[in-house]
Amino acid sequence: TQSHSEVSRVKNLDKLQMGKHEVETWYFSPYPVEYAHLPVLYICEFCLLYYPSFTQLKRHRSKCTLLHPPGNEIYRYDDISFFEIDGRRQRTWCRNLCLISKCFLDHKTLYYDVDPFMYYCMTIKDEFGCHLIGYFSKEKESPEGYNVACILTLPQHQRKGYGRLLIEFSYELSKVEGKLGSPEKPLSDLGLLGYRAYWQEKIVELLLNSDDEISLEEIAQKTAITHGDIMHTCQALQMIKYYKGGHIIHLTDAVLEQHRKTMSKNRRSINPAALKWKPPV
Ligand code: ACO
Ligand code: ZN
Repeated sequence: TQSHSEVSRVKNLDKLQMGKHEVETWYFSPYPVEYAHLPVLYICEFCLLYYPSFTQLKRHRSKCTLLHPPGNEIYRYDDISFFEIDGRRQRTWCRNLCLISKCFLDHKTLYYDVDPFMYYCMTIKDEFGCHLIGYFSKEKESPEGYNVACILTLPQHQRKGYGRLLIEFSYELSKVEGKLGSPEKPLSDLGLLGYRAYWQEKIVELLLNSDDEISLEEIAQKTAITHGDIMHTCQALQMIKYYKGGHIIHLTDAVLEQHRKTMSKNRRSINPAALKWKPPV
């Protein structure tokens, strides 16, 4: 659902500076008009307020006391934390997050009404604070059963396995809720790549770790991935075989080879024991 005016609007800002990173924007984002034609917009990486010049940002930084996102820290393991932020309680912070995020997302209207969403923000810690890496938003009530509305890894941190961590975390929340979940459609091209990779990895992992045949239902119960997403993934990978009137999921050599490569990257994963969370009421 994209309004025509939004499609036709061209990219405005060129670059965002966040912490020590300067990144090029990809798409239009509705920052106030007085900021629209600046070559660089300077963002406080902790409170997400934005400034037209480095001097102004510096002045702000000397007064800003925030060292992590607002909200509750619901997960901490090694240097990775997740903060749960209620859009209604932290309107300004969440709106500013959406403005940043819109710079890298084109296929959705980002809701300026942040109230109906919770924001799950992932940070990495060093001696200066908890730096934002990415986040996903989630409707407080989703009649369609979506467990993610929007998901983003900040571009300076992409392709390092953080998107996978965000996705994994979203399914851990669904497991606690006792529900299956799926990301809101449509997915962007990058979103689809990220999700396909995750679904594939989880399904293959389960197939490898089960001696007996495993049913679609069992895969869904263990991963919180919906039947539809499991089926699509297996179909795309040609892992469905029709056998005696039913279908079975089986591993192919090509899929196994790909799985071996993924595993050899030795990327981080979420430690479910470090999640301290109850579904918000
Ligand atoms: N090209 C090819 N494959 C990719 C790419 C890419 N550019 N990006 C991710 N993948 C696949 C790969 O298989 C990758 O594994 P690999 O690096 O081992 O090959 C796998 O996804 C996981 O990649 P991560 O590094 O974990 O993902 P990343 O941190 O880059 O985040 C994300 C992925 C969140 C989709 C990111 O690209 C992003 O923020 N994009 C812009 C915003 C966006 O489009 N969000 C999704 C919208 S849909 C929705 O919100 C529901
Ligand atoms: Zn600040």
